[in-house]
Amino acid sequence: MQNAIPEYVKHQGLIQWVQTIAAKTKPDRIVWCDGSAEESDRLCQEMVKAGTLKRLSADKRPNSFLAWSDPSDVARVEDRTFICTDRQDDAGPTNNWMAPAEMRQTLDDLFEGCMQGRTMYVIPFSMGPLGSPIAHIGVEVSDSPYVVVNMRLMTRMGRAVYDVLGASGEFVPCVHSVGMPLVGGTRDVSWPCNATKYIVHFPKTREIWSYGSGYGGNALLGKKCFALRIASSMGRKEAESGAAGWLAEHMLILGVQAPWGRKYHVAAAFPSACGKTNFAMLIPPQGLDQGGWRITTIGDDIAWIKPDSEGRLRAINPENGYFGVAPGTNEKTNFNCMASLKENVIFTNVALTDDGDVWWEGMGSPPAHCLDWQGRDWTPEIAKAEGRKAAHPNARFTVSAAQNPVIDDEWDNPQGVVIDAFIFGGRRSTTVPLVTEARNWEEGVYMAATMGSETTAAAAGQQGVVRRDPFAMLPFCGYNMAEYFSHWLELGTKLGHRGVALPKIFCVNWFRTDEQGRFVWPGFGENARVLKWMLQRIEGNAQGVEHVFGITPRYEDIDWTGLAFSADQFFHITSIDGKSWQEEFALHAELFEKLRHGLPAALLKTKSVFESRLEQRLAA
Ligand code: GTP
Ligand code: SPV
Ligand code: MN
Repeated sequence: MQNAIPEYVKHQGLIQWVQTIAAKTKPDRIVWCDGSAEESDRLCQEMVKAGTLKRLSADKRPNSFLAWSDPSDVARVEDRTFICTDRQDDAGPTNNWMAPAEMRQTLDDLFEGCMQGRTMYVIPFSMGPLGSPIAHIGVEVSDSPYVVVNMRLMTRMGRAVYDVLGASGEFVPCVHSVGMPLVGGTRDVSWPCNATKYIVHFPKTREIWSYGSGYGGNALLGKKCFALRIASSMGRKEAESGAAGWLAEHMLILGVQAPWGRKYHVAAAFPSACGKTNFAMLIPPQGLDQGGWRITTIGDDIAWIKPDSEGRLRAINPENGYFGVAPGTNEKTNFNCMASLKENVIFTNVALTDDGDVWWEGMGSPPAHCLDWQGRDWTPEIAKAEGRKAAHPNARFTVSAAQNPVIDDEWDNPQGVVIDAFIFGGRRSTTVPLVTEARNWEEGVYMAATMGSETTAAAAGQQGVVRRDPFAMLPFCGYNMAEYFSHWLELGTKLGHRGVALPKIFCVNWFRTDEQGRFVWPGFGENARVLKWMLQRIEGNAQGVEHVFGITPRYEDIDWTGLAFSADQFFHITSIDGKSWQEEFALHAELFEKLRHGLPAALLKTKSVFESRLEQRLAA
């Protein structure tokens, strides 16, 4: 049974595909989503009835809802994520791989009848402005109404997509199911999911199949699955014919108005839960050039970057909303984010206060009592005694980009914005200095490729362990990481030949700690001071010192107006310890060894240049 296929759906291939999936998964009903507010309201109402959502106080948080997921389904599952290329080498040693035929057999068995008793929703969406030449269309079928309402905030979703798609347009087919009812599951009725999880990508046929999880990047398939894994392989493929190709990156994009009158655009890659949303919405300190700085948001998580006809790199944000980390967000650290969250928000896995509002660690003073993300009583005393958190560390909000008070005027310009600088940064309590400017594109690519970061709650698994996370793309690159490095290097060469100035590349680390484990750098808005130095470097108006792998500012090169931060403290977060860097280079070597098939020689060459500089320094 299904509701009538709307007359505006003219694509027979799409209709047939939906019917094939329905014949396999056997939903009770098919609903073709139109993306309207009425549809979303109706689904939210149904989810409130089913216990999936709680409606928050109409006074405190109008038109907003809270979802508590199953405790086993709270983050991306990297070890259950697969890239199924014909040859294993095309997925590379950093991705889980299975032969396509074998995976199709597995999926065939899993999806057989898995939507029985549920509704299958057909969700048309565009990544990028509707009809833009850089946008791409996807259609997700899902048996989760939570996915529908989140996709409506995160993408351009709904009826208008069919006008662009027409009778024969291309779309990426995305199949999602929370999976067969899990017998004995803890909260199976309100948050169905399955212990067996598969997040599967077929880059050649551009298909995505996701089974068993209803959470975030596992289920909202436009985001990491399409806009990063599938899109990165599409961008690389276009380079095969000698063209430059394009990049799909785990990057925020911001606009920054400098007091000297020029506006810049910066794209920055930090791993999950390492500060992209915060940096994209940053409010520069008032003291800095008498408030002469203004930052505006283009995107907070994903960038698609292509050279334009003049060879300049232009970036768009393919998303339409933010699926951001709640814990740590407050009026002081991210005022603009808090302002975005006043209404029309879906919260997931934060705490519910007694007056029908939300709370999370780091939001402000804790309530005397609330229900934690698992619905259990929580008080500050319980927290102290049991060390139990009110919100899950990967608790998130979903909100439309339109609600961001500092959204950039050009955020949905289909032509994108010209990128002036790339920033790469990991979460490192030691070793990596506050900021380093790469001397050239190759050395910048080296720094990005060898970046390490401590793992966070954004992915299931152990936290706080340093791992290599090249370009913050380790979990998101849809093809061989060694080839991805080549793609970046070749792009630089191709654009260099056309005589365009490439964006400068910088590396940052906001997360160095003291002996007590406290962050030394105040971070957040104060990061604007580092940004100022970078932009001055672009203009040739700031000094720095050359060291082993790049150029770093001296204490006097940073504008400290309005901030008490001593030269000692600065030394603590910028010092380069020779011994630690020897160990660091050993970790680079390990990564390069893992990626040796196809690893660009330029990276090995750069490594030996850096190492001999380090040796000279240690000898001196
Ligand atoms: P994803 O959405 O997972 O890709 O994360 P993200 O990179 O957008 O990270 P986000 O900005 O949400 O920040 C993650 C956590 O890091 C939050 O708890 C922030 O409060 C914290 N954080 C962000 N910027 C800084 C900073 O400059 N310094 C410190 N100490 N913490 C920060
Ligand atoms: C991340 O983990 O980098 C996120 C959240 O942005 S998710 O959508 O789950 O990937
Ligand atoms: Mn992310």
